[in-house]
Amino acid sequence: MNFIEALRCPVCNEGFSLDKKSLVCKNNHLFDISKEGYVNLLCSSHKSGSEIGDNKSMALCRQRFLNKGYFSALSDFISGYCADFSEAATILDICCGEGYYSSEILKNKAFQLYGFDLSREMVRLAAKRKLPASFFVSNISKIPMKDESCDLAFHFFAPFHEKEFSRILKSGGKLLTAVPGKNHLFQLKEKIYDKPYKNDESLPQTEALRLIRTHKAEKSITLTSKEDIQNLFMMTPYYYRTSQKDRKKIENLDFLEVTTQFVIGEYEKQL
Ligand SMILES: C[S@@+](CC[C@H](N)C(=O)[O-])C[C@H]1O[C@@H](n2cnc3c(N)ncnc32)[C@H](O)[C@@H]1O
Ligand SMILES: [Zn+2]
Repeated sequence: MNFIEALRCPVCNEGFSLDKKSLVCKNNHLFDISKEGYVNLLCSSHKSGSEIGDNKSMALCRQRFLNKGYFSALSDFISGYCADFSEAATILDICCGEGYYSSEILKNKAFQLYGFDLSREMVRLAAKRKLPASFFVSNISKIPMKDESCDLAFHFFAPFHEKEFSRILKSGGKLLTAVPGKNHLFQLKEKIYDKPYKNDESLPQTEALRLIRTHKAEKSITLTSKEDIQNLFMMTPYYYRTSQKDRKKIENLDFLEVTTQFVIGEYEKQL
């Protein structure tokens, strides 16, 4: 945990101070910092994503694939966007996964960067990156960040929660939400489905925040190993929807040229 100023206790909403290897609020609610350096701020009634599904192999596939820079169209976009913020800016990576986009942003500039995900396994991998950032386990429905604490939050391929996203943003603060573009991974879907569909590109509708701009980022990538193709497949929702027989079609591929395409909504909290 590198920063704690913007965090608040998920039980009583008070701020934290650091007590040896724990975060503690003034009502003595105590949360231990793990050996990897993250903290679990889920209230006990909330289940962590680690208890749902095969999270460990998903998290590793995602990390191995993203670390090779295949989604650089999106990471270049977010790094470029952050460059306009000062180093004092508080930035939140909502549903951070295994921390790839946070790590790309911090290659260029330091920020007060926080990230969280419901999956403990994802957060563990993010913390193991040893970035100058703070990662925690939490649910988007109850984000343990103070009201109006963030200059920027970004939120890629994950569920939306307009009330919480709006609460944690400063007035005039920005939210970037990325969804798959129309042609994102279309050539992969062609290998699986007889009639692959195009994504509908629809951005979340929200009254709490104003959509001020829409951006597009796109790049064609070439995958030349079975491992990279399998890692990509396993991080998509299609993997779980595909029969064993159809999964074989992907397992046997060792070359794939595929479009990556992202639509990014830029929202603003009204002044
Ligand atoms: C498709 S992954 C995207 C991860 C990361 N943003 C990226 O692009 O690499 C979606 C992530 O949302 C997380 N997630 C799903 N529901 C969530 C919730 N209610 N609260 C917090 N995280 C959640 C999942 O654990 C998963 O890591
Ligand atoms: Zn407390």
